[in-house]
Amino acid sequence: MEQPQPSGEPKTRPNHAKPPLRVGMVGYAFMGTAHSQGWRTAGRVFGLPRQPVLAALCGRDGAAARAAADRHGWAAVETDWRALVARDDVDLVDICTPGDSHAEIALAALAAGKHVLCEKPLANTVAEAAAMARAAEEAYGRGRLAMVGFNYRRVPATALARRMVAAGRLGTLRHVRVAYLQDWLTDPDFPLTWRLRKELAGSGALGDLGAHIVDLAQHLAGERLAGVSALTETFVRERPLPGGAGSGLTATPAAGTGTVTVDDAALFTGRFTSGALASFEATRYATGRKNALRIELNGERGSLSFDLERLNELWFHDATDPGAEAGFRRILVTEPDHPYIDAWWPPGHGLGYEHTFVHQVRDLVHAIDDGRRPDPSFADGLQVQRVLAAVEESAGKNSAYTPVTD
Ligand SMILES: NC(=O)c1ccc[n+]([C@@H]2O[C@H](COP(=O)([O-])OP(=O)(O)OC[C@H]3O[C@@H](n4cnc5c(N)ncnc54)[C@H](O)[C@@H]3O)[C@@H](O)[C@H]2O)c1
Repeated sequence: MEQPQPSGEPKTRPNHAKPPLRVGMVGYAFMGTAHSQGWRTAGRVFGLPRQPVLAALCGRDGAAARAAADRHGWAAVETDWRALVARDDVDLVDICTPGDSHAEIALAALAAGKHVLCEKPLANTVAEAAAMARAAEEAYGRGRLAMVGFNYRRVPATALARRMVAAGRLGTLRHVRVAYLQDWLTDPDFPLTWRLRKELAGSGALGDLGAHIVDLAQHLAGERLAGVSALTETFVRERPLPGGAGSGLTATPAAGTGTVTVDDAALFTGRFTSGALASFEATRYATGRKNALRIELNGERGSLSFDLERLNELWFHDATDPGAEAGFRRILVTEPDHPYIDAWWPPGHGLGYEHTFVHQVRDLVHAIDDGRRPDPSFADGLQVQRVLAAVEESAGKNSAYTPVTD
């Protein structure tokens, strides 16, 4: 799972001899908005070998989809994803829908000869993810790429952390400690949106937040989890039904209630293949915590620490410093030789959440132009899905240690 690291802006200039990359996107709410920003901006900031074109947007309500297309800069509109996939003027299909439709759309798009970008978690089950990874491998043989959207790899500070781990700055890794804390479910009257229904979301905090931290922990460590021991809990089991238009994270209650069929929180420990130990916490009930993804890695030569709520900073303790002077120091990750930064602002001016989606587009367009497997690939998404399945299995067996199967 070793990957080439971005080391600042590629010196590639736009190549107008190469055809544009025409994108069709399905879904236009939270992620659709973030991805639109990425597709619109990447070619204006980075020197991309192919220019993204926002060709067509798909949403089931034609008028609402047209309004979203106008707001975000998409040319055409479709109301059925099958029509979007069939369009001759679409080279890449970007899937920003809930997990229940990822597999069907991705398989159809790859079969139609499109590149695919699919939001995380890759699918709702291991079986779906395995079919997607198989199709992606076949498509790669035909020059078509498939990437899964683990965008937190593309925060400059996490990309720098990966670079430092790969360069041996931490030495042998002993611990990885990760938490992803949100609090949008603490209100028991928050409605039963798709994110709380297993048939639509696959799982709860586990597949949503847990998928991110499993991917990030494995990516930064440069190795995989061998097994896990887990606890999951659903704190509020009955919630009001949602009324009117809304999204997974915003809704107003209507009459009647329904049963929550996913986990509200997942805690698990894990063992890496090297023997390093890891702990994970994913919850939507961490009162006061909004989007706190925190990761710390401890190795025999040093430690790294990151918090998404202060995403321009990376903390580093170099254990080879003289004891009297050693200590965690803050690296402000805004220097031109930090990953992705030299295309942006002068030192100290800072980036935010949305930039991860711009970086995701940058990296995907380069991978397509190079004909190189994208990182993270559908195979990586499948492996994360297997970790999530092992967590659910362990939680169902009184936390018994459960190997992650290949
Ligand atoms: N990378 C991240 O940080 C991140 C953050 C949030 C969500 N996600 C992932 O993104 C995906 C979407 O989540 P979201 O928060 O954007 O959800 P959302 O509820 O905000 O938006 C979902 C969109 O999909 C549309 N949709 C649903 N089924 C459809 C279908 N069959 N055809 C066409 N459109 C359809 C809805 O109308 C809506 O526009 C999920 O897989 C989620 O896990 C990733």
